[in-house]
Amino acid sequence: MKKPRVWVTRRIPQRGLDLISPYAEVDLWEGELPPPYDVILEKVRGIEGLLCLLTDRIDERVMDTAGPSLRVISQFAVGYDNIDISAATARKIPVGNTPGVLTDATADFTWALLMAAARRVIEGDRYVRSGQWRTWGPTFLLGADIAHSTLGIIGFGRIGQAVARRARGFEMRVLYFDPQRHPALEKEIGASYAILEEVLHEADFISIHTPLTPETYHLISDAQFALMKSGAILINTARGSIVDPQALYRALSTHRIAAAALDVTEPEPIPPDSPLLSLENLLITPHIASASIHSRTRMAEMAAENLLAGLRGERLPNCVNPEVYQFTQE
Ligand code: GLV
Repeated sequence: MKKPRVWVTRRIPQRGLDLISPYAEVDLWEGELPPPYDVILEKVRGIEGLLCLLTDRIDERVMDTAGPSLRVISQFAVGYDNIDISAATARKIPVGNTPGVLTDATADFTWALLMAAARRVIEGDRYVRSGQWRTWGPTFLLGADIAHSTLGIIGFGRIGQAVARRARGFEMRVLYFDPQRHPALEKEIGASYAILEEVLHEADFISIHTPLTPETYHLISDAQFALMKSGAILINTARGSIVDPQALYRALSTHRIAAAALDVTEPEPIPPDSPLLSLENLLITPHIASASIHSRTRMAEMAAENLLAGLRGERLPNCVNPEVYQFTQE
């Protein structure tokens, strides 16, 4: 029997490719950079399965160009704002993602950013390497205290909760905002619910963990920065567009808040001439929060499992639009 044709839009950890290749004819985009949109359109023609990344725009046009043969879209990420989910649902195409396996890696990295920004680790490193270190100084590179401070979490899903759990070791007060309250977890984790404005007003560290949706686009802008403490540090490991980059520049350059640490930006990659990059009180990394060996290997396995299930016409183990299965039962 002829194997189904799939297109994989970037080289993922080998374990994932090894799971797929016995069952499918794999076309793999070997480029170091994402395939341009016109290449996506060309490559998807007539495929049965698509394994894509958060750097690929998968919209209606891509789905229509692929045609009715396309049976599954498997995203190698937990976030899927790059995919038009309603267009996929309307075409009865299940979309898979990789939740859970990157929760700890992302929460750990959030803490790495929080601590590095609070204690000015990168500034210290730059100082030493540039040959400026001459002595120990009583008031030199003073940073913010972490222990006993207040952590504000925006978005209390898996990752937000994992970040909150880690705050216990620092005996922090934890406030969270989420559209949905989680009373059982509040007790277990030791976090209290607060409205967004209160979280912004009270927190010393504000960490973002919501998906990017029309509701969360530029959720943090001038009005929100105005509510924050002057010593506040903002951490974003979710999606860049949740924070308005121009408002962030104003908040950092005028010292409205103390610092920010970003693993995600708008746009991505951030242009090298972005004014944000001129700021000493901004710490920035290239979207690597889930980039641990274990986490990326598990993501590859899960993306492969979703893809294979879709090709076989089975329910995806992790499906973001389960409504597609209701249609088939009707
Ligand atoms: C990474 O940003 C992801 O959504 O998995």
